[in-house]
Parts: sequence; structure tokens; C-alpha cells
Amino acid sequence: MKILLKEAKDLDYEKVVDIFYEVKFLKHPEKREAYKEVIEKAFRHSQLVVSAWDNDELVGFVRVLTDEALFATIWNMMIKPSHQKRGIGKMLIQKCLEVYPNLHFFLFSGEQCVDFYKKMGFDTHHYGMYLKDGMKRCVIYN
Ligand SMILES: CC(C)(COP(=O)(O)OP(=O)(O)OC[C@H]1O[C@@H](n2cnc3c(N)ncnc32)[C@H](O)[C@@H]1OP(=O)(O)O)[C@@H](O)C(=O)NCCC(=O)NCCS
Repeated sequence: MKILLKEAKDLDYEKVVDIFYEVKFLKHPEKREAYKEVIEKAFRHSQLVVSAWDNDELVGFVRVLTDEALFATIWNMMIKPSHQKRGIGKMLIQKCLEVYPNLHFFLFSGEQCVDFYKKMGFDTHHYGMYLKDGMKRCVIYN
């Protein structure tokens, strides 16, 4: 299996949303249109979107928000279940670090991915904070 990476925001966002559902990041099928709209906007407003391709099949992606001077955050790192544990997640993280070699990177991990990110060189930060009712404001969490 040869995986190619692309840096591009012009993706088929129906396929992107399919993967959000496949990895169970999204549940409610009836909210699909609203989800698609905000996900596409979020990706297009990111400085870097890297996608992974198995021939012409989209099999994963990640995006980076950054000021391009000091800080960068990694969001929506997802690999299609059929393609997980084949080194693609690692390729995507490495690409982000390669594009911005001098930035201080942050991310939020799901509980089940902590060890994956530790393998990628990240560590937990005990004082990371978020706005308590932020989830209520954000359409993909409510
Ligand atoms: C977590 C995820 C991005 C990992 O991607 P992947 O392509 O399966 O990971 P890789 O094959 O590149 O794994 C790289 C290394 O991490 C390990 N690894 C992968 N997933 C892991 C996990 N969940 N826990 C612990 N280790 C993991 C691999 O075994 C491999 O180890 P090795 O280098 O010693 O062989 C992918 O499983 C995924 O998309 N999960 C669902 C969505 C999700 O939860 N995204 C993260 C949001 S926080």
C-alpha cells in the first residue's frame, strides 16, 4: 500500500465528514449538513490541511491552526478505521512538524489516543485550560 500526502484545502468535504462519522467523532446523522458546513469552514480557515490518499481514496487528514511565528495547534487528526495502525497517522504528524519546524505545538487528545501522541513526541500538560461552557457554543459538540 502506497500512501501519498497532499497539502490542500480543496477536498471533497462529504468524504471528510464520512470519516468523522466512521471514527465516531460525530453521531447524529440528522445534523450532517450543519456539521459539513462548519467542518469545511474550519478546514478552509486552517493554515495547513494535510490529507492521506490510498490511490484516489481519502483515508485520513489532519489540520493545523497557527500564527506561523510561535504556536501551532493540531486538530481533527483522523484515519479511516480500515487504514489505522499502518503508519499513516505518524506520517501526518511528521508532515505537520516538518512544515513548521520551529513552532511550539499543542493538541487535545482523546483518552484513547494519548499513547499514540506520546509516541509522536508529545506529553501531557497539567495546566492546559479551556472555557467550561465552550462545548455548548460549538455545534459539533451539542
Ligand atoms: C489515533 C490515530 C490518529 C492513529 O493513527 P494510525 O494511523 O492508526 O497510527 P499509526 O499507525 O501511525 O501509529 C503510529 C504508532 O502509534 C501506535 N498507535 C496508533 N494508535 C494508537 C493508540 N490509539 N494508542 C496507542 N498507540 C497507538 C502504533 O502502534 C504505532 O506504534 P509503533 O510506531 O511503535 O509501531 C487513529 O487511530 C485514529 O484516527 N483514531 C480515531 C480518531 C481519533 O481518535 N483521532 C484523534 C483525535 S484526538
